[in-house]
Amino acid sequence: MKQEGTHYTLAASLLHWSIAALILTQIGLGLVMDHLTFDDMLAFSLFQTHRALGIATLLLVALRVIWRLGHKPPALPKTLAPSARKLASSTHFLLYVGQILSPLSGWALASASSLALPLSLFGFFDWPLFPFPSDGRFEEPLRTLHHWAGWILAGIIAGHIAAALWHGLVRKDGVFSQILPRSGAGTRS
Ligand code: HEM
Ligand code: HEM
Repeated sequence: MKQEGTHYTLAASLLHWSIAALILTQIGLGLVMDHLTFDDMLAFSLFQTHRALGIATLLLVALRVIWRLGHKPPALPKTLAPSARKLASSTHFLLYVGQILSPLSGWALASASSLALPLSLFGFFDWPLFPFPSDGRFEEPLRTLHHWAGWILAGIIAGHIAAALWHGLVRKDGVFSQILPRSGAGTRS
C-alpha cells in the first residue's frame, strides 16, 4: 500500500469533495421529494435527477474504494488520544458503508418498483436494473431500507462535519487541511 505522507493526494481530495457534494445534494433532494408537493412534471424530473445523480455517486464511490485499497491515508497528529483515533477510523469505515449502502439501496428500490421505470442516466443511456419480480413485493421493504440508509448516513455525516470543524477551528492541528485539495502532497500545513 502506498504511503500518503501528511496530506491526502489530490485524487483522494477531489473524490472526497465531489462525493460529499453529491451526497449532500441527494439528501436535500430526498427531503424535497418526500416533503414538498410539485406538479407532476417537476416531481418527475426531481425524481429522475435524484436517481441519476445517485448512480453517478455510486460510480464515484466505487472509484474511491478502489483508490483507497491501494493508498494509506495520512497519519493523524501524534497529540491525538488513542480513543479519538479509534473514533475517527470507525467513523470513516461507517461513512464508507453508508456511501455504498445508500445508492445501492436506491438502485435496488428503483429495480423493485412495480412501475418499472427505466433508469435513465441524464438521457445518455439506461442504467440496468436488478431482476426483481415485477409484482412490486420488494418495493416497500427496500423503500424502508433506502429511507434509513439515507438518514443514518446523514447522522454520521453530521458527526463527521462536527469533528472536522473541531479539528479545524478549535484544535487547529492540521487534520482539517489534510483533506483540502492541493497538488504536490507531502507536508502538513
Ligand atoms: C458529506 C459527505 C461526506 C462524506 C461521505 C465524507 C467521508 C469521508 C471519509 C470516508 C473520510 C476518510 C477518508 C479515508 O481515509 O479514506 C473523510 C475524511 C475527511 N473528511 Fe469527510 N466526508 C464528507 C463530508 C465532509 C465535510 C463537509 C467536511 C468538512 C467540513 C469533511 C472533512 C473531512 C476531513 C477533515 C477528513 C480527514 C480526516 C482525517 O484525516 O482523519 N468531510 N471524509
Ligand atoms: C448517495 C446516494 C443517495 C442518497 C444519499 C439518497 C437519499 C435519499 C433520501 C434521504 C430519500 C428520502 C427518503 C425518505 O425520507 O423516505 C430518498 C428517496 C428516494 N431515493 Fe434516494 N438516495 C440516493 C441514491 C438513490 C438512487 C441511486 C436511487 C435510484 C436509482 C434512489 C431512489 C430514490 C427514490 C425512488 C426515492 C423516493 C422513495 C419514496 O418513494 O419514498 N436514490 N433518497
